[in-house]
Amino acid sequence: CGATYLQWQGQCGSCQAWNSLRELTQTRSKSPDAGSPVKPVKLAELRRQQTPRQATGSGELDRVLGGGVVPGSVVLIGGDPGIGKSTLLLQASATMSEKRRVVYVSGEESLQQVGLRADRVGADANEIEFVAETCVERLLPILTHIEPDMVVVDSIQTIYSDAVQSAPGAVSQLRESTAQLVNFAKSRASAVLLVGHVTKEGHIAGPRVLEHMVDTVLYFENDTGSRFRIIRAIKNRFGAANEIGVFAMSESGLKEVRNPSALFVSQHPKPVAGSLVMVTWEGSRPMLVEVQALVSESAGSAPRRVASGVEQNRLNLLLAVLHRHGGVPMFNQDVFLNIVGGMKIAETAVDLPTVLASLSSFRDRPISNKTVAFGEVGLAGEIRPVPFGEERIRQAATQGYTKALVPVGNKPKQRIPDIEVIPLERLDQALDAAGL
Ligand code: TYD
Ligand code: MG
Repeated sequence: CGATYLQWQGQCGSCQAWNSLRELTQTRSKSPDAGSPVKPVKLAELRRQQTPRQATGSGELDRVLGGGVVPGSVVLIGGDPGIGKSTLLLQASATMSEKRRVVYVSGEESLQQVGLRADRVGADANEIEFVAETCVERLLPILTHIEPDMVVVDSIQTIYSDAVQSAPGAVSQLRESTAQLVNFAKSRASAVLLVGHVTKEGHIAGPRVLEHMVDTVLYFENDTGSRFRIIRAIKNRFGAANEIGVFAMSESGLKEVRNPSALFVSQHPKPVAGSLVMVTWEGSRPMLVEVQALVSESAGSAPRRVASGVEQNRLNLLLAVLHRHGGVPMFNQDVFLNIVGGMKIAETAVDLPTVLASLSSFRDRPISNKTVAFGEVGLAGEIRPVPFGEERIRQAATQGYTKALVPVGNKPKQRIPDIEVIPLERLDQALDAAGL
């Protein structure tokens, strides 16, 4: 986990893992201009010197980065194997190299392999400068000589430093190589994009300190099974965290999905029981997402509650509220909940759609497929407002929905054309409004 101790101990006090401590030799990397005194600078001067961001040619990638690549910044991109990290960065490098100098450091694949991929995605990679060097001490002089605007390192786990005596990919190696690359980025105002492998638990393999050292951390979120790829900014010193970009993997590389709003909604010709579309807020934009529930009588003594894309405890809580304030007992029912398209929803606006979809399935009564809903459900059965209510309703209206069940606190001040807004105060009202 990256925690350090001065002496051996059996259990790590930070992550509680047993026998995971390894002895490491501490080394200090010298900063290139160590010794020269630092002069304070006025903030006003700094503002004048600001360099503009560089567009990567992919609107969705620029969006998660906060509007393009910032010179001198270090970006860490994590994701499962085969999800498209190398593909995305190769495509971005190709576009960037039309106007700027881009170096692609490949420690993972041979140059032939990278070349084949470039042909496949139809990227004009002729101007990209490839370097197959994984020792950071030998790599940095090459980079300093080329003076690139952007460096892609695929992957950071293959890079090692001579100053540290452990195998590439080890904690101390990662930390040292990253420190040197960060130093390079800051001193040369060159953007560095690092690819990071992800462990089974979903963390970037190696210490969490990597995430602290870099400016921006992006994660590929969904699994390789689906065609769609969601990139989320977990941390961003130059933009909004939690911003997402949506891509689709095609025969020729990753294509951006410019209007992802209708992506996570299945097109039912007729309304079906247990399905309801909600408007969720992702980063800086509203998205329509379908919530599906299946409620069926439980065969065992302990009913099953399975939630995918929403927190399971939240589902239990909502079913308890539905029992107490809606008068619908589900203790002998299995409840399965799913968010279409592998999307994950962490906000409470999913509460109301969850309750309504579950009840719709339980009663086998469909809710109109032109209806959307969002809102938090409190323990007292009240429907509580969520941020950006009006924007959510407008988005639903532009996608052709005609009825919105919303918390009374989110009722827009002015009428929104083409959509009927039904403000709700309590859960029982919501059940009536949805026709359940
Ligand atoms: P890759 O970028 O190599 O993944 P990562 O670097 O994250 O491990 O992506 C490889 C996967 O993407 C592989 O399973 C094949 C698929 N793919 C396509 O479907 N179309 C393409 O044009 C490319 C280049 C890859
Ligand atoms: Mg790769």
